[in-house]
Amino acid sequence: MRALITAGGRGTRLRPLTHTSNKHLIPIANKPMIHYALAAVAAAGITEVGIVINPDTGEELRTALGDGAAFGLQISYVVQDAPRGLAHVVQVAEPFLRGEPFVFFLGDNVIVGGIRPFVEQFQARREDCHLVLARVREPQRFGVAEVRGDRIVGVVEKPKHPKSEYAVTGIYLYGPPIFEAVRAIRPSARGELEISDAHQYLLDHGYRVGYSEITGWWKDTGKPDDLLEANRFALDHLLDGAAPVIRGRVDDASDVQGKVVVEAGARIVASQVRGPVIIGKDVVIEQSYIGPFTALGERCVIRNSELEYSIVFADTQILDADVRIERSLLGREVVIRRTASRPRTQKFILADQSLIELC
Ligand code: G1P
Repeated sequence: MRALITAGGRGTRLRPLTHTSNKHLIPIANKPMIHYALAAVAAAGITEVGIVINPDTGEELRTALGDGAAFGLQISYVVQDAPRGLAHVVQVAEPFLRGEPFVFFLGDNVIVGGIRPFVEQFQARREDCHLVLARVREPQRFGVAEVRGDRIVGVVEKPKHPKSEYAVTGIYLYGPPIFEAVRAIRPSARGELEISDAHQYLLDHGYRVGYSEITGWWKDTGKPDDLLEANRFALDHLLDGAAPVIRGRVDDASDVQGKVVVEAGARIVASQVRGPVIIGKDVVIEQSYIGPFTALGERCVIRNSELEYSIVFADTQILDADVRIERSLLGREVVIRRTASRPRTQKFILADQSLIELC
């Protein structure tokens, strides 16, 4: 069995972060988002992985993931020249997949608990297609499955009036008939070959389409709030039940509580850290408060400031901020600092599509 993982897309709803980084490399609990898909695939015993990239940001992915040896995987790269839909992705990857059954995994879906049970069910029941479903509050944002008993009877992409609360997540298992389906369907109103239409084709042509329901945690990370939530969840599971892992230094004037990882070379001085929190290598925290669900990338400096429920990429500095910063996503080498200069004004140097909320 092989795996196909998407890592293209433009990530427009995550700008400005995606102006300088592929969305799939945005850190969730200090690991690039796509690592979660790679780990899930590896844990299911799959080693041959195709990563679908686009011509603009593909190089960054190749550099970050290489040949996959670091993950115990063999990674090949498949280029999709233009965003023409997920069914088009399957068409483009057909030579890599060689007609074998495969897992199709959208690289922006973060799942905790792995995919092994889904793979086992797909194999045991000898299905042509197995969809992983999740009950959601806003099914109209997703492909929606209509379910009767243990069967799926219909799949519609982002319906205005969903017939169930079951979203089709970005985890699919396929046998060879999917290649016939993705060739037969026509572009939707938004001009894309929709994966939901391929699923409906399989149903219409009598192929066996089964499903599992995710009972653990799953998130499709389209918007900034989704990233913060995925980060929260990943941090919560980081140290399940274990004691804090302190590889760096925490001085006697500091107080570190809860699920906390302090990586090597990090220094915490006269500060309060309340987990779940991960503090990257060589970070410096002085006279500060770091609250729950915060991930700090390598070499950040936080001085005389308060921060919580945030994702901070590497090399960012927050100095003497006198208002607590929360629900924030800060890219690389961002500086937020207080100055004593007069007149007392706010000064910003912001890239396109940045967002500042003042209080
Ligand atoms: C895609 C699929 C949709 C699915 C979703 C899961 O939507 O088209 O059927 O429910 O992924 O993440 P997109 O996120 O590309 O709009």
